Amino acid sequence: MRILVTGGAGYIGSHTCVELLNSGHSVFIVDNFSNASVESIKRVEKITGKSVNYINADIRDEKALNELFKRHNFDAVIHFAGLKSVGESTEKPLMYYDNNVNGTRVLMSVMEKYKVNSLVFSSSATVYGDPDTVPISENFPLRTTNPYGQTKLVVEQMCQEVCSANDKISIVLLRYFNPVGAHHSGMIGEDPKGIPNNLMPFIAQVAVGKRAFLSIFGNDYNTPDGTGVRDYIHVVDLAKGHVKAIEKLHNKTGCHVFNLGTGRGYSVLDMVAAFSQVSGKKIPYQIKARRAGDIAQCYAKPDLAQQILDWRAEKTLKDMVNDSWHWQVNNPNGYE
Ligand code: NAD
Ligand code: UD1
Repeated sequence: MRILVTGGAGYIGSHTCVELLNSGHSVFIVDNFSNASVESIKRVEKITGKSVNYINADIRDEKALNELFKRHNFDAVIHFAGLKSVGESTEKPLMYYDNNVNGTRVLMSVMEKYKVNSLVFSSSATVYGDPDTVPISENFPLRTTNPYGQTKLVVEQMCQEVCSANDKISIVLLRYFNPVGAHHSGMIGEDPKGIPNNLMPFIAQVAVGKRAFLSIFGNDYNTPDGTGVRDYIHVVDLAKGHVKAIEKLHNKTGCHVFNLGTGRGYSVLDMVAAFSQVSGKKIPYQIKARRAGDIAQCYAKPDLAQQILDWRAEKTLKDMVNDSWHWQVNNPNGYE
């Protein structure tokens, strides 16, 4: 298939491009490089030995998208482009609604115009808010506590409504749990700007000596060791989930929703121990107050994706940590 990948130069997008190319699909990337570098695309080409076309454009630029869709005959779109920082979204909510919601509206209206009927969208487990129980199934109530999560919910709803209005459209909403790790080549990985918000890149920077210690946000949660529990999933497993979604469902009309997680939770202290073991480095940490908006535990029931997509996460925690470490050591300053 000829697939347009929005945000394809970013963390999850670049890994998905590798898996799409390895599965024989062609990809075209649209990215405004607000949180990515052209270098990631060059590395995708090196890993796969295939060339990748891209344009530097914003998905809210309707004229640019029209030109693109006029010139190419896309079979499907995988839509990663968006802003993803919870903290920033509470400070700049309008920026998040404009980029994530309005950007998706513009993209979907151009798809409609050019009759491209298949879309895969990056949603997030954040749409479950603080769940009453774990593991989390797709039919759990949806509620979020921050503007970033709200943009994901609004886009999900927009997708459901577009599917109700047009019976030719197929949309897959993939709710990711906590993506971590990197390609095993060590050539592509997560390249956060400034101080990382998320646990794994932060631990990796402590291990490599860029930061003095990790702050652990609370050890008084109702979890086995008191620290927060999450469903960390290797980014390559996640990327393969997109290939399955597009191959299995691009012709199946309607709106389909899947959790992409492993079904297993690890605590912050589990992650520190695993990283320390793999890297052979001590990871100094200090226990701090809980981070506002954090929940005790969150992990998926991933059975639906296994049944319908024939997908399940295969990589272990050791793979996730090994690959993160390999990427961090090879690229201490990311793609710079
Ligand atoms: P990322 O920031 O690495 O990738 C997003 C890409 O989109 C970047 O390359 C950025 O330059 C580009 N982009 C942003 N706004 C754009 C716009 N208006 N026009 C064109 N390009 C634009 O993030 P990621 O971790 O790869 O996340 C990809 C998607 O998955 C996002 O939608 C994110 O919300 C979602 N998601 C991520 C996580 C996670 O933990 N990483 C978890 C759940 C959901
Ligand atoms: C966060 C976002 C979520 C988003 C996801 C992926 C919040 C509240 N949630 O999820 O919406 O979908 O990232 O981008 O920001 N931790 C520490 N010290 C740190 C960093 C994290 O102890 O320096 C702990 C957290 O308290 C949590 C766990 O590590 O228990 C994982 O945190 P993180 O990687 O930020 O992911 P989430 O909070 O699950």
